[in-house]
Amino acid sequence: MTPGPAAEAVRVRVPATSANLGPGFDAFGLALTLYDELTVVPAESGVRVEVIGSGAGEVALDESHLVVRAIRAGLESLGADVPGFSLLCENRIPHGRGLGSSSAAIVGGLAAAYGLTGTPLDRDKLVALAHELEGHPDNVAACALGGFTVAWTEGDAGRAIRLDAVTGLRAWAYVPGTRVLTKEARGLLPTAVPHAEASANAGKAALLVAAITGRPELLLTATEDLLHQEYREPAMPESLALVHKLRGSGLPAVISGAGPTVLLLGGPGETSAEPGGDLPEPPDGWRRYPLGIDPVGVQVWSGESSPSAE
Ligand SMILES: Nc1ncnc2c1ncn2[C@@H]1O[C@H](COP(=O)(O)OP(=O)(O)OP(=O)(O)O)[C@@H](O)[C@H]1O
Ligand SMILES: [Mg+2]
Repeated sequence: MTPGPAAEAVRVRVPATSANLGPGFDAFGLALTLYDELTVVPAESGVRVEVIGSGAGEVALDESHLVVRAIRAGLESLGADVPGFSLLCENRIPHGRGLGSSSAAIVGGLAAAYGLTGTPLDRDKLVALAHELEGHPDNVAACALGGFTVAWTEGDAGRAIRLDAVTGLRAWAYVPGTRVLTKEARGLLPTAVPHAEASANAGKAALLVAAITGRPELLLTATEDLLHQEYREPAMPESLALVHKLRGSGLPAVISGAGPTVLLLGGPGETSAEPGGDLPEPPDGWRRYPLGIDPVGVQVWSGESSPSAE
């Protein structure tokens, strides 16, 4: 039976994500406590889109809007027919900065389709569907599952597991005012890397799983990357300079996703300075966001209830 559309507004809260985390290229993701919120109300026909915050005045407001496309794809995968809807996007995740705004739009739209049809979220299916739309699974995995995720593909299918980040893990995103598009940053990667660097990187990636899930004192060495960050320097020289400066001070900093944001991780008992404390100030024109780890991923709810009621 095709589920009928929800009579009332569906609300979605979807987290920013940081992918790669240094050596976990295209595999690791971390969900962060910075959120976009969607409100979707079923209608007789057509779509009406309003955007507040990030992307306002920039993104299309028609069927080509990424959230609208994801809602449509989600409805199709559920075999549901919702003729139209209005969509309000209240966006806090900056666009084109390496904090997973496109994944949040896709996962948020798919989750809204589940809400509109009254279907309980199937998070593994969300990862697979979102991977089809996004093209790589790392951000969508953290967005859909929360916490720390390891993603991979089987054939063409996006898969992921979620692990608990160690209690007290924190992050600071240093976000520049300028953007770098993911496809531009990907274009700088070499087609082959030296075997010694690939094997060293594999060891660091394995160590990072241990560091994030329980051994935060190993974060500095475990976040060392040999596969992608340095190759991207021409597209984001200031970001690489900041990574080098922070790491040179003993702080585990990485390029977030395809950049240019720099993510600094802090384990319990380490880099525990409060914002404005003894952490390095952001460069001119940059903002620093103090963040926690989002433990649950996208949430969807209807009416007046809160997301925790899901
Ligand atoms: N909430 C949104 N609503 C509509 N379109 C969006 C939204 N978020 C992202 N997009 C589209 O995706 C583009 C940004 O995608 P891109 O993958 O380059 O950056 P990102 O997702 O912010 O960073 P990264 O993928 O490196 O983590 C925007 O310019 C816009 O076209
Ligand atoms: Mg993206």
